[in-house]
Order: sequence, then structure tokens, then C-alpha cells
Amino acid sequence: TDAPLIDPFARAISYLRVSVTDRCDFRCTYCMAEHMTFLPKADLLTLEELDRLCSAFVRMGVRKLRVTGGEPLVRRGILTFFEAMSRHLATGALQELTLTTNGSQLARFARPLADLGVTRVNVSLDTLDPDRFAAITRWGRLPQVLDGIAAARAAGLRVKINAVALKGVNEDELFSLTDWCAREGHDLTFIEVMPMGDVEHARLDQYWSLRDLRARLASRFTLTDLLERSGGPARYVRIEETGQKIGFITPLTHNFCESCNRVRLTCTGELYMCLGQEDRADLRAPLRASPDDAAVEQAIRAAIARKPKGHDFDYSRSGVSGKVSRHMSHTGG
Ligand code: GTP
Ligand code: 5AD
Ligand code: SF4
Repeated sequence: TDAPLIDPFARAISYLRVSVTDRCDFRCTYCMAEHMTFLPKADLLTLEELDRLCSAFVRMGVRKLRVTGGEPLVRRGILTFFEAMSRHLATGALQELTLTTNGSQLARFARPLADLGVTRVNVSLDTLDPDRFAAITRWGRLPQVLDGIAAARAAGLRVKINAVALKGVNEDELFSLTDWCAREGHDLTFIEVMPMGDVEHARLDQYWSLRDLRARLASRFTLTDLLERSGGPARYVRIEETGQKIGFITPLTHNFCESCNRVRLTCTGELYMCLGQEDRADLRAPLRASPDDAAVEQAIRAAIARKPKGHDFDYSRSGVSGKVSRHMSHTGG
């Protein structure tokens, strides 16, 4: 049946994040280890299979679909998948089709994405300094990303910049990033580092709390708390001097799980009910077992019935407990 997906805590699941690849052309130090083992191609769902699964979710009430990775735009043929999803935009079944990207391929993809009905993109950008950018992303080149962002705006896309707050790395760029976003007309959200996957750095060394970041912003600007919540993890303030809206994602100092509306699908067909938990359901087996979607729908409902109340991240408990062993690139954040 097409009844909406409601979890045991009465939360309606209307938002699907789908990671179309675990690969990325960058290796951000907080996200990946320098040498990562990627999934063998044979384990990946084909774009047709991803289409089938996502379409099942849309039939069951998903209204917003965010394509993530790894870096989604390095998946071969990705526009075919966007084209498939844009069908659901055309029927009105899907209200928003969007993506989170590192921006490296946007110069090429912005226009075709806009033509397929994408209206905004989230771009990860932690620094405006080219050398620092290279150090954080290991393999990234800042000008390429800035060109991508410019192309997105030229194609009519709204841009939200995601900046991970990194102690001793981009602390001194708080105001320059904020000013740049104000000038360019981009939305801006700061994110606390989450303890996901082993990386070369100790997580606590990278952790810069947004409580402190916010206090520093407040030393220069008048901040007004906005009560609106997008149903997502961000809380927003308005900077009165510039009219900018700034988002804060603080999984570790603030809990937003009570209004969680999302689940995450990986490129191998695993469904994660919570970013901060290991529990997942395999949708690939029922998908491949039959061309009929009944088994898939049943598996999706059974999974949603197991969605936990909240995540388990907690630095205070020794800095390791509650840590999730997979990397962010596995479930796309
Ligand atoms: P919009 O609100 O639609 O702009 O998207 P978003 O901020 O939810 O998505 P985006 O992909 O830009 O994610 C930004 C950051 O939020 C990433 O670091 C995600 O890992 C994090 N995030 C997104 N959803 C959740 C969640 O349910 N729990 C936690 N802890 N973090 C999340
Ligand atoms: N903690 C917080 N944010 C992270 N991202 C990747 N890894 C982590 C982490 N461990 C961010 C990226 C991107 C978003 C999808 O997640 O910078 O903006
Ligand atoms: Fe790639 Fe994004 Fe991870 Fe950086 S944060 S390595 S750009 S997936």
C-alpha cells in the first residue's frame, strides 16, 4: 500500500537522503582517512535500481530527496538518475530534489541540474584560503570549487555553504566566511565535527563548539534567534546588520532528534534509520529478489518501525563511546 511512513515515535518520514557513491575526488581530513578502501563496483546499486528504490519511497510519502555521496557528481551517469527523479517533481509527488556536493564538478553540472528541476544546492566549503583548502581537502583546488559555485548561481540555483567548524584551522575565518556569504548572497551553515569513522586526527583536537563560534559572532553582530526549523538539524539566527540567516548544526551540544523526518539510503541499498546509529536494513536483497516492489515496500516499513529515538554521539563520555565506525561518506551525512 502507499500509506505514509510513520515511525514508532510518531515521526513522519518525508525526507530521503540517498548516497549514490562512497567515492569522492577529495579526502577532507575530518571526513576520510587518506587511504580509503572504496566499495567494489559490483556491490553498487545500478542507477535503475536506485530509481526503483527511491520511487518506492516517494510512493510512500517521501517529499524531499537529497542526493549525497561521497561526492554525488562523480558517479558515472548521475544525470540519468536526476532525470528519473525529476519525473516525480513533474507529477508533484516530490516537492524538492536537491544535492549536497563539494562543488568540484558543479561548473559542468549546474546548468543540467537546474534544467532538471533542482533549485538549490548545498556546497561544502570550510575555508576561502587556497592553501588551507588544499590542506583540508588534501586533493581539492579552491578555484575549481569557487567556479562551480559561481556556475550554480549563474544557473539560478540557490547556494547554501556548509562550513565545518575546525579548531585551529578555520577559527580565524569566521568573519571572512560570513562576510563573503553576505556579499555573494549564499546561505551559510556551520557544522560541528561529528565522530564518524577513523581519520588521522583525534576528533577532539578538531572539535570547535558552535557555542563558542556563536559567541564570537555575537561579539561583532546582533543575533536574533529564529524559531523556524526546517525539520532538519539546523537552528537559525539572523544577523541584524546584514540580514543574513546563519544555520548551526550542533549534533553534540544540541539534540534535534525529536523532530527527525529522515532516513538514509546508501549506494549498496542499505537503509540507515539514524545517522548516529549502526542499525540498518538491507533493501538490496528484496529489490533483487523480485521485479515486483511489494517485498521492497514491506522491507522499508519494517525498517522504519525500528527507527531509534535518537543518536548516540557523545564526546563527554570519554571521547570514544557513541562513536560511529563508518565514515560520513558512507551515508552522506
Ligand atoms: P537542508 O536543511 O535541506 O539545507 O539540508 P541539511 O543541512 O540537512 O543537509 P546537508 O547535506 O547540507 O547536511 C549538513 C550537515 O548536517 C551534514 O554534516 C550532515 O551530516 C548533517 N546532518 C544532516 N542530517 C542530520 C541528522 O539527521 N543528524 C545529524 N546528527 N546530522 C545531520
Ligand atoms: N563531521 C561533521 N561534518 C562532516 N562532514 C563530513 N564529515 C563530517 C564529520 N565527521 C560534512 C561535509 C559536508 C557534509 C555533508 O558533511 O563537510 O558539508
Ligand atoms: Fe569528499 Fe565531502 Fe568527505 Fe570532503 S567531506 S572528502 S568533499 S565526501
